[in-house]
Amino acid sequence: VLVPSPDYPLWTACVNLAGGTAVHYVCDEESEWYPDIDDMRSKITDRTVAIVLINPNNPTGALYPKEVLQQIVDLAREHQLMIFSDEIYDRLVMDGLQHVSIASMAPDLFCVTFSGLSKSHMIAGYRIGWMVLSGNKSIAKDYIEGINMLTNMRICSNVPAQSIVQTALGGHQSVNDYIVPGGRLYEQREYIYNALNSIPGVTAVKPKAAFYIFPKLDVKKFNITDDEQFALDLLHDKRILITRGGGFNWHEPDHFRIVYLPRIEVLRDATEKLTDFLSYYRQ
Ligand SMILES: Cc1ncc(COP(=O)(O)O)c(C=O)c1O
Repeated sequence: VLVPSPDYPLWTACVNLAGGTAVHYVCDEESEWYPDIDDMRSKITDRTVAIVLINPNNPTGALYPKEVLQQIVDLAREHQLMIFSDEIYDRLVMDGLQHVSIASMAPDLFCVTFSGLSKSHMIAGYRIGWMVLSGNKSIAKDYIEGINMLTNMRICSNVPAQSIVQTALGGHQSVNDYIVPGGRLYEQREYIYNALNSIPGVTAVKPKAAFYIFPKLDVKKFNITDDEQFALDLLHDKRILITRGGGFNWHEPDHFRIVYLPRIEVLRDATEKLTDFLSYYRQ
């Protein structure tokens, strides 16, 4: 199963735990963190069964345009691959951009689209999510049988929380006020993007969606060879917790992830401390 690198790591874990083999395709920082289609193509073999997409993306905050999705659909069609599309951040899109669900562009292919309320309605922990199966279900009979078995074994998701789904999806979408100028998520994104890029040795692509940013460290400047050590040193020195790039199946020690949900005052305090830390840190 082709899984992005960097990924939301449960995807790699799920594939491997289910007895599959997660093969990572690269998302390219030089191209707004879009999937590298040539890399994806080069990793398809006669044993490849599916492509996983995370769009909008955790940890990069990327949003994939139609042209990129079309190339993925073309590849999947050519090799008759299933598409698993994790779209949990589909309502958290900024800059007037539109999220496009890949299943809408591939009515002939078997697609599983995942979403839920935990991000758009800020109720992580209530365990309200769903999957939509579409397209050519005849190639996925055993998969669907497995899902039915699992859901029957688990009975159902949290019932009191289910009662809010209709109101949440149908009512006023308060998140819309967060993602425009003046809104919390938008302003926090602007702040963290500018603050990180003004630190010598740090660069970051501007996220378009979700609430993460995945900055790059100049590993030569800081002599970084181990991103876990970097995270631990920052935590010990400054009491700031970041997630290292390796936690997202990113194979170089040169990235880390910030969740920019805290208010700007908190982000300011953290970036000032990070700036100070990086002024002396050498691994
Ligand atoms: C890409 C992605 N998919 C799924 C999830 C999990 O969402 P839930 O809270 O519904 O389990 C997350 C949570 O961080 C995520 O980042």
